[in-house]
Amino acid sequence: MSENSSAAAKQSTVMVDGKPRYHEPAPQHIDVEAFRQVVISRRSVRKFTSKPIPKEVVDDCLDMALLAPCSSGLQPWEFYVVRSADKKAKLVKACMSQLAAKTAAELIVCVARTDRIEEFSRKMLREWPMPDVPKLVQRYYQLIPYNYAPGPLNSFAMVKKAAFAVGGLVAAVPRGPYTRSEVELWAAKSTALACENLVLAFRAHGYDTCMMEGFDEVRVRKLLKLPDAAFTVMVVGAGERADDGVFWPQVRFDRSLFVHDV
Ligand SMILES: Cc1cc2nc3c(=O)[nH]c(=O)nc-3n(C[C@H](O)[C@H](O)[C@H](O)COP(=O)(O)O)c2cc1C
Repeated sequence: MSENSSAAAKQSTVMVDGKPRYHEPAPQHIDVEAFRQVVISRRSVRKFTSKPIPKEVVDDCLDMALLAPCSSGLQPWEFYVVRSADKKAKLVKACMSQLAAKTAAELIVCVARTDRIEEFSRKMLREWPMPDVPKLVQRYYQLIPYNYAPGPLNSFAMVKKAAFAVGGLVAAVPRGPYTRSEVELWAAKSTALACENLVLAFRAHGYDTCMMEGFDEVRVRKLLKLPDAAFTVMVVGAGERADDGVFWPQVRFDRSLFVHDV
C-alpha cells in the first residue's frame, strides 16, 4: 500500500497560485451503471453453495477494503481470514451456527483497534508520501495520540470534554472522541466503511456476503486472542450465492424518511 501511495506522489504536480501542488486527476470514465449493478445486486445472502472463492479474489477484495476512507488516515481495522478448519468450526459456533456462517466459503472477522493510534500516527509521519511533511500535518499527528487518549477511567477525557465545552461557547471545537467508548466508536466507523468496501468488492467479483453481528463477542475474542483494545465489528461470510440464498426481496422505506433538503 505505502509503495502505491509513494508512486502516486511521484505522478504529477500542478501550479496553483504560483505554487507546485500534488495533482491526482479524477478519472472521468467510470461506468456508473456497472457500479450501480454492484450496489443494487448486493444482498445479505444467508445460504452459499460449496464453491470455494479463489484466494486471489479474497485478497483482491481485502485490498479494496483497505482502501476505504478512515478517520485521520489511521486505518484502525484488522481483517482475520479464518482459514484453519478447527478455528472456522469454532467461529461458526460463535456465530450461533447461523446458516450464513455455516455455509460460507470464507469467514472474515472484521476488527477495530484503538491501541495503534500512537504507533500509526508516527508511522504516518515516517511514511508520508511527499518529500516534506507539512508543519501542520506534523503537528496534527503529534497531537492525535494525546487527543484520543482517554486516560485511566476516562480521566483525561473528562478534562478535555470540560475544556472544550467551555471553548465551545465561543467557537466550533471538536467534541470528541475523548472517552474510551467514543474512541471505540471512532474506530468502528472507519472499520465499518472498510467492511462495506469488502462486501461490494466480493459482489463485483460475482460472489456474495452476509455481514453478521449476531456472534458471541467473548468467544470470537478468545478464538482470535484479541487484545483488550480490539473488538469485533462484524463477521463477514462470503461465498457463491445459493439459488435460495436470498430469503426475501429487499425492503427499503420511502426515501423521504431519510433524505432531507435543509
Ligand atoms: C452491522 C450488520 C449486522 C448484521 N448482522 C446480521 C446477522 O448477524 N445475521 C444476518 O443474517 N444478517 C445480518 N445482517 C444483515 C441485515 O439483516 C441486512 O443487511 C438487512 O436485513 C438488509 O438486507 P440486505 O442486506 O439484503 O439489503 C447484518 C447487517 C449489518 C449491516
